[in-house]
Amino acid sequence: MRTETEQTIYLKDYAPTPYRIVSVELDFRILEENTRVRAQLAIEPRDTTAPGTSLVLDGDGLSLSSIAIDGAPLALASYAADDNGLTIVEPPFRRFVLETEVFLKPESNTKLMGLYRSSGTWCTQCEPEGFRRITYYLDRPDVLAPFTVRMTAPQALAPVLLSNGNPIDRGDAGDGMHYAVWQDPFPKPAYLFALVAGDLGSITDSFTTVSGRNVDLAIYCTHGKEAECHHAMDSLKRSMAWDERRFGREYDLDVFNVVAVSDFNFGAMENKGLNIFNDKLVFAQPETATDANYHSIERVIAHEYFHNWTGNRITCRDWFQLCLKEGLTVYRDQEFSSDEHSRPVQRIHDVQNLRTSQFPEDGGPLAHPPRPDHYREINNFYTTTVYEKGAEVVRMLATLLGEAGFRKGMDLYFERHDGEATTIEAFIKVFEDASGRDLSQFITWYLQAGTPQVTVSDSYDGASQTYTLTLTQTVEPTPGEPDKKPLLIPVRFGLIGPNGSPMSWNGVSGGTVEGDLILLDKPSVTLTFSGVANKPVPSLFRAFSAPVKVSSNLDQADLLFLARHDSDPFNRWDALQTVSTQLIAEAARGRRWSDDDAHALRQALVDTLANPDLDAAFKAQAIAIPGTGMVSRHIGKDVDPDAVSAARKDLVTTLVGPIADQLAERYAALVSDAPYSPDAAQAGERALRNGLLQLLVSGAGRGDLAQKQYETAGNMTDRYAAMAIAAQSWTDEAPALLGDFRTRFAGDPLVFDKWLTASAQAPDDGVIERMRAILAAPDFPKTNPNRLRSLLGSFVMSGSTQFTRLDGAGFRFVTEAVAEIDKVNPQVASRILTGMRILPMLEPRRREAGRVALETLKSQHTLSRNVGEILDRILA
Ligand code: PHE
Ligand code: ZN
Repeated sequence: MRTETEQTIYLKDYAPTPYRIVSVELDFRILEENTRVRAQLAIEPRDTTAPGTSLVLDGDGLSLSSIAIDGAPLALASYAADDNGLTIVEPPFRRFVLETEVFLKPESNTKLMGLYRSSGTWCTQCEPEGFRRITYYLDRPDVLAPFTVRMTAPQALAPVLLSNGNPIDRGDAGDGMHYAVWQDPFPKPAYLFALVAGDLGSITDSFTTVSGRNVDLAIYCTHGKEAECHHAMDSLKRSMAWDERRFGREYDLDVFNVVAVSDFNFGAMENKGLNIFNDKLVFAQPETATDANYHSIERVIAHEYFHNWTGNRITCRDWFQLCLKEGLTVYRDQEFSSDEHSRPVQRIHDVQNLRTSQFPEDGGPLAHPPRPDHYREINNFYTTTVYEKGAEVVRMLATLLGEAGFRKGMDLYFERHDGEATTIEAFIKVFEDASGRDLSQFITWYLQAGTPQVTVSDSYDGASQTYTLTLTQTVEPTPGEPDKKPLLIPVRFGLIGPNGSPMSWNGVSGGTVEGDLILLDKPSVTLTFSGVANKPVPSLFRAFSAPVKVSSNLDQADLLFLARHDSDPFNRWDALQTVSTQLIAEAARGRRWSDDDAHALRQALVDTLANPDLDAAFKAQAIAIPGTGMVSRHIGKDVDPDAVSAARKDLVTTLVGPIADQLAERYAALVSDAPYSPDAAQAGERALRNGLLQLLVSGAGRGDLAQKQYETAGNMTDRYAAMAIAAQSWTDEAPALLGDFRTRFAGDPLVFDKWLTASAQAPDDGVIERMRAILAAPDFPKTNPNRLRSLLGSFVMSGSTQFTRLDGAGFRFVTEAVAEIDKVNPQVASRILTGMRILPMLEPRRREAGRVALETLKSQHTLSRNVGEILDRILA
């Protein structure tokens, strides 16, 4: 028998199961007291299996109440069941049907894996290893089978009965019970199984696929919330049409159902034909949801829908391959958002997210490759590296192959691997076969951790009209990976002449340049461009063509030149960010900017704001000053976050002071009384207005403007921004605004989350005491992941200087909370603990305070495997 240990699982040990599951029939009898699960699994040995090989099924905390093979109960000696599974000794050496029965207690399932109850609704979460908490099974993604699911439940408690696939039967079952039968014809791994039983409202719609088939769509929710589901439904229909247009992918079942639940460990789940969502990613109305919420809903609805092809029809061979479905599907949802709205604004948004969450992961103790090769707890690998860096790797593939070449590879992927559980190697192979290109160096992106650093130097020789550009790549060692291989880095670029327009050249030597793409494929490449009439300013990594850090030799004047003239909007934005980041970082180290430097940056911001060719959403991103966390990571080691925060505040004040009136006028001019719409144009204007408010409050003490905006706001975007901005600067008005917000929306849990987030981001010394009081309040919902993450996740991830307090109070608060949460929900606990990955880059006294907090957590508590693994990796 296997036991739950600290055991590490290695990719190199992968082997297929000796038995296949041919088909699955499940029968659920759901009652208030318990749920009975009967499973009939048709099983057969593989051709290569030796007779007498035991059948070992996974099980997690199940207790077996009956077992039979082909209808005959099993003798006690022929099987063994324990807390980790069920072993059948010498099963028949042919196809047979294994029948098991177990009873579950969904009510007390606080881990939210397997079958649990959320606000009365029975629902499931199986990815990655939750199905083994429902029945004994080969619970791994390479075991695919068609499922038929019958469920019986009290009509009054659960009038709605849903599972995967198509509904094939339903009816009365007597005694107040009713039943439904669902059949999913597509073989699937168990992690895609889902069941929902509850008293739910719904909205319905339909979609006609490109080949003319009708698909019935429904979104289920708590009664009374139906009106808040329309944005999700609209997003779903646009996603279905987009996947047909852009990737030729048509939906394959007669129905597509989405269910919103209040207790959920992640954002949402792509169960075949029955996506289950965290309700915060479904519900939207202008009074309670922000533009950012609307945007996330659209993105995640699309993401889960796109999984139907990238994840479900083609799935992962093992969990090491997670980014095969996640990186690819994030790439697809990013492309969807770009096509539906503004591509540059979306790109900036995605890169900002990558830099603020993935870069720190990749540069710290939790670094791992997009495809890791070992883990202790797979739940700890649903990371921003697997998702967001995974998407960047796919994006580089598309950059290298061009849009048509990439599409050709994707077509081949679907053709070759439909119905399979496959690997990253197979994914790369389709692009090699479709393009004839050797991608053996490219695949290293999947196998190696760490963010490459690219160093740039250049020179111009006027006499010979040659321009020389040298690019050098290095990757710092990451845990367990001391030596790094050079990567194939696509550098999209342009040269800009003194008058701001693009420059041409008539020849280039020293490396590979394909159109506007430099292939940096060696530790260092030096390119010589001939026929270059003037000294150019290089614009490199346009549209962020590779997930790297660049240390360029451009000075502030060059960067501000790019900010004005680059034809690539991403690099215009990035140049401004780089200038601010460098000024703050230098000042934090004691070298404050000169008046000239501040003046030049201020002027660039003013000109950007005034530029009629730029849209409001872009301007909002361009005038945002990088956060403390961003700058701290730029500094990289021995960071004193208080010094960074003070320098940042100083810069904002310096920049805003002389132009405060001008900004305030602009701010005032942007008010609109048009009825709320989440569309890109309106949302962009709100973003710009709130960006100005941010500058005015933090740089010119205009807390009064925040107060006024809070009071007069006609939508949640403006109201929340006003409160959060006031809270982050801890203005005199902030406590009253927080207090009003709390009571004004009492009873709405998703708005309560916003209050928790804003409260956690307050910078004053009282914040930890206030958070302790919030958690200790008798009515605080201690088992709900959204509430916990809103308070604690925001605290550890937002660069709060209270988290990194010199006296260690922030670290102690977090580790103590993690110990409590771990008893209820290990996944949520370990996620919060990852915030402690910041320790190695802090100055020694803070680092030590954090280490002591972690050691205390380790020695004083029995920890889950989830928390234990994260803790050990941070301490290592
Ligand atoms: N697979 C989900 C996604 O679309 C994420 C998820 C993982 C949800 C594990 C629940 C549990 O990204
Ligand atoms: Zn996903």
